[in-house]
Amino acid sequence: MAAGRNGSPGDVKAILLIINLFTITSVVQGVEWMSFQSRPDIRAPIMDISLKNDTLITPGYIFLAPYETELPGPYIYDNDGNLVWSGADGSISELFHDLQVCPYNGTDHLCYFQGKQIGGYARGRHIILNKDYAPATTVQTGNGLTLSDMHEFNMVNTTTVLIAVYQPRRYALGAYNISKDKGWAMDGVFQEIDIPSGKVLFEWKSLDHVPVSESYTPLGLNPVVGDGLSNATAWDYFHLNSVDKNADGDYLVSARHTSCIYKISGKDGSVKWRLGGMNASIKQLDYNFSSQHDARFQKENDTVTVISLFDNASNIYRNTSSTSSGIIVSIDHRTNTSRLLKRYQAPGAGILSTSQGNLQILPNKHRFLGWGSNPSISEHTEDGTAIFFATLNNPKTMNYRAFRFNWTGQPSDKPALRTYAASPGSATTLWVSWNGATTVDHWNLYGTNSSSDVFTLLSRADNQGFQSTYTSPNYHPRTYAEAISRNGTSLGNSSVVNASAVRVKIQ
Ligand SMILES: *[C@@H]1O[C@H](CO)[C@@H](O)[C@H](O)[C@H]1NC(C)=O
Ligand SMILES: *[C@@H]1O[C@H](CO)[C@@H](O)[C@H](O)[C@H]1NC(C)=O
Ligand SMILES: *[C@@H]1O[C@H](CO)[C@@H](O)[C@H](O)[C@H]1NC(C)=O
Ligand SMILES: *[C@@H]1O[C@H](CO)[C@@H](O)[C@H](O)[C@H]1NC(C)=O
Ligand SMILES: *[C@@H]1O[C@H](CO)[C@@H](O)[C@H](O)[C@H]1NC(C)=O
Ligand SMILES: *[C@@H]1O[C@H](CO)[C@@H](O)[C@H](O)[C@H]1NC(C)=O
Ligand SMILES: *[C@@H]1O[C@H](CO)[C@@H](O)[C@H](O)[C@H]1NC(C)=O
Ligand SMILES: *[C@@H]1O[C@H](CO)[C@@H](O)[C@H](O)[C@H]1NC(C)=O
Ligand SMILES: *[C@@H]1O[C@H](CO)[C@@H](O)[C@H](O)[C@H]1NC(C)=O
Ligand SMILES: *[C@@H]1O[C@H](CO)[C@@H](O)[C@H](O)[C@H]1NC(C)=O
Ligand SMILES: *[C@@H]1O[C@H](CO)[C@@H](O)[C@H](O)[C@H]1NC(C)=O
Ligand SMILES: *[C@@H]1O[C@H](CO)[C@@H](O)[C@H](O)[C@H]1NC(C)=O
Repeated sequence: MAAGRNGSPGDVKAILLIINLFTITSVVQGVEWMSFQSRPDIRAPIMDISLKNDTLITPGYIFLAPYETELPGPYIYDNDGNLVWSGADGSISELFHDLQVCPYNGTDHLCYFQGKQIGGYARGRHIILNKDYAPATTVQTGNGLTLSDMHEFNMVNTTTVLIAVYQPRRYALGAYNISKDKGWAMDGVFQEIDIPSGKVLFEWKSLDHVPVSESYTPLGLNPVVGDGLSNATAWDYFHLNSVDKNADGDYLVSARHTSCIYKISGKDGSVKWRLGGMNASIKQLDYNFSSQHDARFQKENDTVTVISLFDNASNIYRNTSSTSSGIIVSIDHRTNTSRLLKRYQAPGAGILSTSQGNLQILPNKHRFLGWGSNPSISEHTEDGTAIFFATLNNPKTMNYRAFRFNWTGQPSDKPALRTYAASPGSATTLWVSWNGATTVDHWNLYGTNSSSDVFTLLSRADNQGFQSTYTSPNYHPRTYAEAISRNGTSLGNSSVVNASAVRVKIQ
């Protein structure tokens, strides 16, 4: 159930408060997030793991940016569903998408989109963080276009990035009963940006190359698609949702509303071939796809192009398969034909996602899939065997893309400690956490006692996930925690904290 949607938020808070008197994580029917005494400002969606093969699962963390939830934000989880980092800033008017590790400036950085959702697109900015989670830089559109959209954040090398722009544009829609000079269409634009200078290296606009007649999504279908009568209701005929680049400098564009994947010349922007859609130039011999996302170049030579994509297979109005899947397709340019190499489906009966979703190919050839409008993720071996399946436990949540990466996070703030003792003389409980720290092996917990102001080591507490807890039978009026790495070095201390007789109200 969706707590806070179906129930009253006040009840939920009351339940949480009671639960948090006794537990670290609130896993109770109707409660869909974890909360923490040491960081009452952080709540994160609970991840239910229904399949996990510890032998085969790829090491690394899980990167999600759920929305359509009370807790939109960029989140990193570990393979046990523990929170590692929450970048949620409490904003409910802005959303986050596409959280991933990117190679900015030659080292691992954290990248995500943040902005306002407007129907089927967004207006915002692309944010890049250092490994201490401090902002490194922000990417924005150039050439005077509107603010950048959420649908792509693809760093093609250490300095340039591909981003999408949903740009309303005057367009003659006479054929659609809109009088001359009154029509608006949504141009599907992508730009390749040089991050240090902000310069636009390449720009492509769908309306210059793909006519509105290629759309399967009719004008005025619903308010999100638009009636074409104003810039705010421009017809989203194309719906660009991924851009990739190959070694030749050409691009691969996926458009959901034309159900077509386009290879675009990096020289002049012309369309080199169309896979799928109403005017395909490549025949599909043994498969179909529609409303697809996340089209990526995988392998290419003069005769063959291998691409991956997430086949949504549905937009509710038009279905081409009963379930969504990640697929690998091989195109033979000598015969202009293509064949399905492999299909990856969710375990069990499968999932039909009506929007969003992605397929990431990991360095060990495993596949990592985000199921888009369903808040599920899965990992598969190359042969398709599912070895991991998890779902955020509010089914109304959506997640545009999911990724798996290795990541080293070393936050620049201090570990957070909260210490509770019911009264002077009673047992003392310590809760410690460090949002985003990935190198903590254990915690050395220090405290004073009733008769001495000298700090002594109370315990060496193993790292227990996002938050670690220890209860001493004795009273310790003042405490602090020290984070220790695997190699025994000290990573940092919390502030010295006085024991409180009051537990935090978890919001
Ligand atoms: C994990 O995969 C291995 C190899 O395929 C298999 O032998 C084992 O039974 C699997 N374990 C689980 C829990 O599925
Ligand atoms: C890029 O990395 C180098 C070290 O590799 C560093 O000196 C430089 O400050 C970084 N530049 C930016 C803009 O982060
Ligand atoms: C990244 O790609 C752009 C566009 O092709 C190129 O101008 C730039 O030199 C490349 N940067 C690096 C570090 O390779
Ligand atoms: C065309 O638009 C006019 C109003 O602008 C409307 O009265 C008419 O019904 C429309 N015709 C069709 C075929 O949609
Ligand atoms: C439509 O145009 C107005 C006036 O130029 C502008 O303020 C507004 O932001 C535009 N809306 C969209 C969705 O582009
Ligand atoms: C189909 O695409 C080709 C280019 O591949 C173009 O020449 C032709 O005009 C298009 N047909 C339609 C009906 O749009
Ligand atoms: C693909 O779609 C076409 C047209 O609807 C249909 O004839 C064909 O059987 C489909 N192929 C597969 C493999 O589903
Ligand atoms: C191109 O790639 C295909 C499939 O990966 C391979 O079978 C073929 O031999 C390659 N052709 C050349 C000329 O390398
Ligand atoms: C497509 O599939 C969805 C999910 O099963 C279903 O709700 C919808 O009615 C189907 N649409 C059509 C046109 O069959
Ligand atoms: C595919 O897209 C449709 C329409 O946006 C959505 O209703 C459906 O849930 C999506 N299917 C999957 C498996 O995400
Ligand atoms: C993480 O690093 C390990 C060890 O180098 C490697 O086996 C694994 O494939 C990496 N995971 C990802 C998602 O790249
Ligand atoms: C010990 O581990 C920390 C954190 O992983 C690392 O920053 C540091 O360089 C390591 N020190 C040594 C001596 O290996």
